[in-house]
Amino acid sequence: MKTRDCRTLLPTLFLGVLYFLAAACLQFPSVVHAQQTFATADPWWKHTVIYEIYPRSFQDSNGDGLGDIAGIISRLDYLKDLGIGAIWLTPMYPSPQVDYGYDISDYTSIDPAYGSMADFERLVLEAKKRDIRVIMDFVANHTSDQHAWFKESRSSRENPKRNWYIWRDGKPSGGPPNNWLSWFGHSAWTLDPKTNQYYYHYFYAQQPDLNWRNPEVQKAMFDVIRFWLDRGVSGFRIDAVSRLFEDPGLRDDPLLPGKNAYGDPNIQHKYTDNLPEVHEVLRELRRVVDSYPGDPVLISEADEPTIAELTKIYGSKNDEVQLPMDFQIADVNRLSAPEFRKLLDEVEHNSAGGQPHFFFSNHDQPRQWDRYGDGAHNDQIAKLMAALLLTTRATPQMYYGEEIGMRTTDPARKEDVHDPIGKLGWPKEKGRDGERTPMQWDASKNAGFTTARKPWLPIPPSADRYNVAAESNDRESILNFYKRLLALRQGNPALRDGPYISLNPTDPNVLSFLRKTPSGDSVLVVLNMSAQTQRVAFDLRAQNIAGKTLQPLLTAPQSLSSQWSLSAIALPPFGVLIAAIQ
Ligand code: GLC
Repeated sequence: MKTRDCRTLLPTLFLGVLYFLAAACLQFPSVVHAQQTFATADPWWKHTVIYEIYPRSFQDSNGDGLGDIAGIISRLDYLKDLGIGAIWLTPMYPSPQVDYGYDISDYTSIDPAYGSMADFERLVLEAKKRDIRVIMDFVANHTSDQHAWFKESRSSRENPKRNWYIWRDGKPSGGPPNNWLSWFGHSAWTLDPKTNQYYYHYFYAQQPDLNWRNPEVQKAMFDVIRFWLDRGVSGFRIDAVSRLFEDPGLRDDPLLPGKNAYGDPNIQHKYTDNLPEVHEVLRELRRVVDSYPGDPVLISEADEPTIAELTKIYGSKNDEVQLPMDFQIADVNRLSAPEFRKLLDEVEHNSAGGQPHFFFSNHDQPRQWDRYGDGAHNDQIAKLMAALLLTTRATPQMYYGEEIGMRTTDPARKEDVHDPIGKLGWPKEKGRDGERTPMQWDASKNAGFTTARKPWLPIPPSADRYNVAAESNDRESILNFYKRLLALRQGNPALRDGPYISLNPTDPNVLSFLRKTPSGDSVLVVLNMSAQTQRVAFDLRAQNIAGKTLQPLLTAPQSLSSQWSLSAIALPPFGVLIAAIQ
């Protein structure tokens, strides 16, 4: 009996193990692949370059005028060739698309408009074959009002999910519970007639805030993180993280002078932003990601007022977010060497010892080509900003299209606006359509983005000249400058690992710094942020550098002289010099 049992059991066990392995490979294909491809001593996110994709606008594969996952897969070779190491995908989960995906109705599926879960798994796998990691957007602060949790919550005051959101009675005299304002205009409270209570929403009324004080909410949201980590993603960009908690006493926010674009009084979001409880959640999130192999990364939106505030997001024991996005740097809205120098120095020496994380463009703010451009030298300035982004010690984040000099193209008429804040705030606030237009791949109809008659947002007229195909064939193009710069950053030991040393601290026009490794590799970066030729000289004896001649590694314009010494450098307007010292 025993022997017979064993004989029948062994093949069953063997088949069982085979089945388990096959299932694990199918479910976690990318995890297996990630371990093979990305094993390095340093956490990968310190040396990678992250590329933000707005999926709706990157590449359409099925001719419906909307970008999709298959479209992204078809462009992975382009991204590999460009030289980036990770893609951050803005939300692709099921959504009524009031806020274009930032209103999620199901955290653990893919919106059919973008494809299926199988498409997503193929994306992770195909990306990792090319050493590209996938980072998801984690919209933690709010769901869509169409999420099943909110539908339950609003159904009655007694519903078990009532306390998953923030419901309050109005003032006895009538009107919302307090003066809190939505970031997207007007009161942050909406009255739900069904139960005659108000719910709180930091953003649109269709984006009710989750109640993070409820442990059930926390558990559900941490499970969402696990769900995607189990599918091989390498981290998350946490949306609107500073807004997770509100003052339980519902105190009124202080009023500030003036009005905003929506006609509301300006207020200081004192009782809804950056409450200390946020840090407990971030620490727990970090514990969850740290329990997975492969150093998954947390990136956060962190539009903090100072670098000191930004530093808190790393956590007092560096146990929260590895890469808080530095809005201080991104919000220097003009070319100013002293302002950039000050902020670079400050974040370099942040008291948490955290890794800086820079960007200049994203899906919420006007693109850098026109934000920093002076109308006469915009292409040269685009290269200057690329050099600033890609030569410091910070982990850089690019936004799709910045590498070809895409510009902000706002709608001309109110009736063409898609983004609801543009409809509400027109003409002062035109919304964010202008920075979300389709990627410009070539000069064909619809710039190679879609075969549909009409893409979801119009193709900017600049696509004729500023597109991947045209710029690939032009040695002086913005695209080719980015490619050379990305390759240099990846291959040069000082640019990859060297500490950042600020130079010439009082120069009003030229931002200069050194990247120098302890073993002696050094690279000098000189960025002329003015419209005049500037002469600069360096004395690097304090940095233990004896060499005096410069070996240019990359310049813009490309034709700059190569006969420079440290004591005599002349840089044309907005010129870039990146050089080794010999
Ligand atoms: C973040 C997103 C933005 C969105 C908002 C609400 O700021 O970047 O696009 O509208 O959160 O989710």
